Amino acid sequence: VLPPELVSQIAAGEVLERPASAVKELIENALDAEATRCDVSIEGGGLTLISVADDGSGMSAEDALLALERHATSKLNAFPELYEMTTFGFRGEALPSIASVSKLTLTTRTRDGEAGVELKLDGSTRPELRPVGCAVGTHVEVRELFHNVPARRKFLRSTGTEAGHVSDVVEAAALARPEVTFTLRRDGRRVREWLRTGSREARVADAHPGERLASCRGERGPLRLEAFLSPPERARTGAGGLSLFVNGRPVRDRALAVTVAQAYGSVLEKGRYPRGVVYLDLNPRLLDVNVHPQKSEVRFADPRAVTDAVYGILARALAGAFSLPSSPRGGAPRPAAQADTAIEPALLAEAAAAEISLEAAAAPGTDAAGLIFVRDSLTAPIRPGPQTTWSSLRFVAQLRQTYLLCEGSDGLYVLDQHAAAERVTFTRLRKQYQSRQVACQALLFPIVLEVGADEVALVEQRGREIAEVGLDLRVRGPGLLSVHAIPKLLQRGSPERLVHDLLGELARSGGRGFSDAVDLALATMACHGSIRAGDALTESTAAALLSALDLADFAGHCPHGRPVVTFTSWAELERRVGRR
Ligand SMILES: Nc1ncnc2c1ncn2[C@@H]1O[C@H](COP(=O)(O)OP(=O)(O)OP(=O)(O)O)[C@@H](O)[C@H]1O
Ligand SMILES: [Mg+2]
Repeated sequence: VLPPELVSQIAAGEVLERPASAVKELIENALDAEATRCDVSIEGGGLTLISVADDGSGMSAEDALLALERHATSKLNAFPELYEMTTFGFRGEALPSIASVSKLTLTTRTRDGEAGVELKLDGSTRPELRPVGCAVGTHVEVRELFHNVPARRKFLRSTGTEAGHVSDVVEAAALARPEVTFTLRRDGRRVREWLRTGSREARVADAHPGERLASCRGERGPLRLEAFLSPPERARTGAGGLSLFVNGRPVRDRALAVTVAQAYGSVLEKGRYPRGVVYLDLNPRLLDVNVHPQKSEVRFADPRAVTDAVYGILARALAGAFSLPSSPRGGAPRPAAQADTAIEPALLAEAAAAEISLEAAAAPGTDAAGLIFVRDSLTAPIRPGPQTTWSSLRFVAQLRQTYLLCEGSDGLYVLDQHAAAERVTFTRLRKQYQSRQVACQALLFPIVLEVGADEVALVEQRGREIAEVGLDLRVRGPGLLSVHAIPKLLQRGSPERLVHDLLGELARSGGRGFSDAVDLALATMACHGSIRAGDALTESTAAALLSALDLADFAGHCPHGRPVVTFTSWAELERRVGRR
């Protein structure tokens, strides 16, 4: 039987990876005590000092003594309650773990306590207790963290890096609880301040200053989702800019992050993730929070149902938020002349059935229309008023056989013709594919291709599904395929290249579903089968392209996420030529 101090130190190894882990535990205790304010201060990256003060419930002297014992908690009585938890803590382990690897002072006073009490713990010694005058709430000071665990100290990074982790932890807590004020001081200097606010949206805006985030909300059965996500061109490699919260807990969940990225469809390459925040709220019974000592992971009773719901809600909301012509909520009516209107109303009805609300981004002065235009600098996205549609633009000229110069009521638009055509082809192809009606063009002379054994195996296994993409591919022998038909929309493309695109994407898809791989394949194929830079366009082709853009999702981006258009307002032009 191990002595209790040693047990605590071993537990501390799991719970406390670095100073930021201690800060996280102390903040969570403050929030569990219903604090409305939480002041965090660190010195030396948290190794010299961590101080967390709250204005929560406080503890009696008796409770404070108990709180420092292992497995003492006020938050849980019986195992089944774990599945109804609304507090962050439940293990009764954080304080004793921290105390076992530091010099800890806890000062606390309850609302009706006449005075406060101070407890000092120095490693394994019994706490010294004395009455003190102090404010209602709890203040924990942790000095010389890991002083008795030299191995742990060796693994730590520079104080700057450790302080950065602390800052991330405070930010996560602030995002989790917008109604609480947080401050962070580093070596005596106030570095962050989060004033309490009434909504998650406002807190997220504080956390992502200057970022134009689309608000997406939806519900599916017991699951409620609220997300604030960046446009695709602000995505970054890795999920570092994307915060996930499940029932208010900050969590790491790769599957969830991947699902969020996949909801952008082909505009995000694999491995790239949007910036922003996703809040998932569901019945706590459908969730196991007791899977990770730092509680940074949760397990869903039905993970598939969760990812399906998240994907379903976000895919529609994002397409709406980032596309032309108007938001379904009281936006402008579509011009009557447009064909293909059957699709969108059906989609909207479906969205309405799923109780999805699409909202315009939080940026001031923007409107509900979703298209992202990009200013000259390519950095400051703007949105046109809801009346602006691509087809209302007047095509003026083709420049360098690459750009379309167009005149709108509000300014000049320059479109990249290849990116625009690619987007239109992709949208049409995907609609055809989704209704399993890809129009094919038979080749007069089948083309024989030499390929690898893997690709032959792929065609043998997936022949029927591949046919649905509009490619008639047949196995001719070991290492030989023949192409008999290609999608009509991609007639400009070389059949060899299209086959290569599709098989390449399917082979790479690995664990992802076939349909995701097809989505990416369609994007690549659309790229290779569309009008290119260098193609001369007639006026009528250009006009047709503009009207077709009105029907393409994400009309402001090519399927690979590159912006399609730059905009210069008349006012800007006048300023530049000195008329203003
Ligand atoms: N800031 C605080 N204000 C009021 N009570 C607190 C505070 N911090 C801790 N406590 C009390 O001390 C107890 C022990 O805290 P500790 O963090 O060790 O365990 P826990 O929060 O119950 O569970 P976990 O180990 O999962 O965090 C808590 O259950 C709570 O009753
Ligand atoms: Mg705790």
